[in-house]
Amino acid sequence: MDAIPVTITRRGAGETTRTDVWWGTPLAIFVGLSLFVAYSTWAAFQNAHYTYGPYLSPFYSPVIWASPGDTAGLEHAWLGVKPDWIPALLPFSPALLILPFPGLFRFTCYYYRGAYYKSFWADPPACAVGEPRNSYLGEQWFPLILQNVHRYFMWIAVIFLFILSYDVWLAVWFPNPATGATEFGVGLGTIILTVNVVLLSSYTLGCHAMRHVAGGAHDEVSKHPFCDKAYACSTALNYKHQLFAWMSLISVAFSDIYVRLCSMGIWSDVRFL
Ligand code: FES
Repeated sequence: MDAIPVTITRRGAGETTRTDVWWGTPLAIFVGLSLFVAYSTWAAFQNAHYTYGPYLSPFYSPVIWASPGDTAGLEHAWLGVKPDWIPALLPFSPALLILPFPGLFRFTCYYYRGAYYKSFWADPPACAVGEPRNSYLGEQWFPLILQNVHRYFMWIAVIFLFILSYDVWLAVWFPNPATGATEFGVGLGTIILTVNVVLLSSYTLGCHAMRHVAGGAHDEVSKHPFCDKAYACSTALNYKHQLFAWMSLISVAFSDIYVRLCSMGIWSDVRFL
């Protein structure tokens, strides 16, 4: 049978025969991620209003060192006051020390890669839409091969889940001004921080790399009942990975906003118990 020659014409940047609103999702992702990066960067440099009562903003947790004189921050600091060997000229904030770790976990997430490759790099902007470049090196080459560190950052993200869960535990112990002791209570902030941990856990435990770990790296996971169940649980979360990626992103930013505005006296925390 004779071979039939096929000619494929390369589309120019943004060229497409699609008639739907194909640019709507990439534009929404561009706006959403830009807002988050702008707000979280601003919040990380503030080094103020990151605690309120027993609440600690997740952007600042854990507080390794706090600035001298920051009494509220020092109550949460693991190692006390910022040491002298940190140059005074460098901008300092407890958030700047820890945010790169969850930040890089998200940056290298398989879902976010697909989202920002389209929205920020137009590579391509959407399916069947022309892209503004003629070559594609993929993730097997530098620099995108570095995205493979995701599987290691996943373990750091799991450690953060334990730390943020501990912050929820601390968020139920309110100071009693009359006695000076702490007493059990539940405020709106407690609930917001709890929901945040649930959403972050749903996002992290449904990670593609976590599925591999949960399955015990077996070729035939169905022959290993425990791993099979763990793999099924992780897969169930993975089906909604995009949803949890966005909900946890919003909840972590909103948790910081809530603590910040309560600390600034703009919002009042509501106590239920
Ligand atoms: S693939 Fe999204 S968190 Fe790992």
